Amino acid sequence: MRVESRRVSVLLPQCHYDIVIGSGILPSFSNFSAVQLKAAHKIVLLSDETVAPLYAAPLAKQLNDMGKQLLSITVPAGEGSKSFAVFERVLEQLLSWPIDRKTLLIAVGGGVIGDLGGFIASVALRGIPFIQVPTTLLAQVDSSVGGKTAINCKAGKNLIGSFYQPELVVIDTDCLETLPLRERRAGYAEIIKYGLLGDAAFFDWCVLHGQAVLDGEPQSLHHAIETSCRAKAAIVAADEKESGVRALLNLGHTFAHALEADVGFDNRLLHGEAVAFGLRLAARLSVQTSGLSAAASKQLETHLDALGYPRGLKDLVAGHKFVAQQLIEHMESDKKTLHGAKTFIVLDSIGAARELRGIPDSLVLSILEDA
Ligand code: NAD
Ligand code: GLY
Repeated sequence: MRVESRRVSVLLPQCHYDIVIGSGILPSFSNFSAVQLKAAHKIVLLSDETVAPLYAAPLAKQLNDMGKQLLSITVPAGEGSKSFAVFERVLEQLLSWPIDRKTLLIAVGGGVIGDLGGFIASVALRGIPFIQVPTTLLAQVDSSVGGKTAINCKAGKNLIGSFYQPELVVIDTDCLETLPLRERRAGYAEIIKYGLLGDAAFFDWCVLHGQAVLDGEPQSLHHAIETSCRAKAAIVAADEKESGVRALLNLGHTFAHALEADVGFDNRLLHGEAVAFGLRLAARLSVQTSGLSAAASKQLETHLDALGYPRGLKDLVAGHKFVAQQLIEHMESDKKTLHGAKTFIVLDSIGAARELRGIPDSLVLSILEDA
């Protein structure tokens, strides 16, 4: 069943942009992006090896037919492309094409392509316009919105980047039909997160409809994506550069980043998988440090169990043994750590989150050991 397209506006002091959400809308991409396309004679289409033939190539044909000059750049799929080496190669390629200040970069892919493409757009000629076309659930509900761009380096993940907003985000939910269940499940973790941190009614909706979202049932999928984008747009509008409320989006992420760092940021543990486990641990921490009831924490865990997320740390990554003390050490180098104090987002109740520092390591350690 076709679901009507919707628009969510991201209203920032310096710029406004729309997120268009629909099913089967990529074939009419030029209608949605007419204003942005009009100014650009040259377009850089950035994608990865998996997404390029599926979604970037048809888009390239459409733009070619409009008489645009195109440079299609394809990088390897996966986190490894958020590197200095790929950043340099892509930047050199587009600068020697050459681009001009009106050249539009279109990032077609998951969070890796969005983060890499956004960062490149922010520094090429000191900034060229870019459009996000997110093709994973995670990118459609989180990474394509809000202007965080980044690559990784030896010292850690997402440590080099900028805040740089896209001109437009075009979300075609049909892209999710080719996305493996494992990736959809990873993206869903970021969806429940919005309910937990600020919208108890949406969390209740997720408990009822989470399986339908994973199954790709159109109405449920659209509702989940639109609600998530609205929640993120409101938070980013209130605090673009994360000096306050935006930090709440890091619910579960202090744990998640430590887990990812321990595995070495490779695809044995997807970001969203780590976030889902991090949400469990954040809820357990909240029961001990804040007002979250044990029943509410249990409700979250039962929902995650029902959807097939791993229940214990030993089941998270086959063949990998997590050591609690080592995870604490990874947290020390987390970019949210301030003057040596680890930062956690905790829940007072479902739908009410806040930042908390100064939690004793012994408590975090015991939660990790129990997990
Ligand atoms: P990803 O971009 O690596 O995509 C996951 C995999 O799915 C890749 O192999 C990709 O080729 C494939 N894929 C993408 N779309 C597909 C489709 N429609 N059909 C089939 N396969 C498809 O990973 P991701 O989970 O989308 O994003 C993770 C990245 O996002 C991490 O680097 C994380 O740091 C970043 N992130 C950024 C923000 C932000 O605010 N900027 C927020 C959350 C996460
Ligand atoms: N994904 C966290 C943020 O955008 O702030």
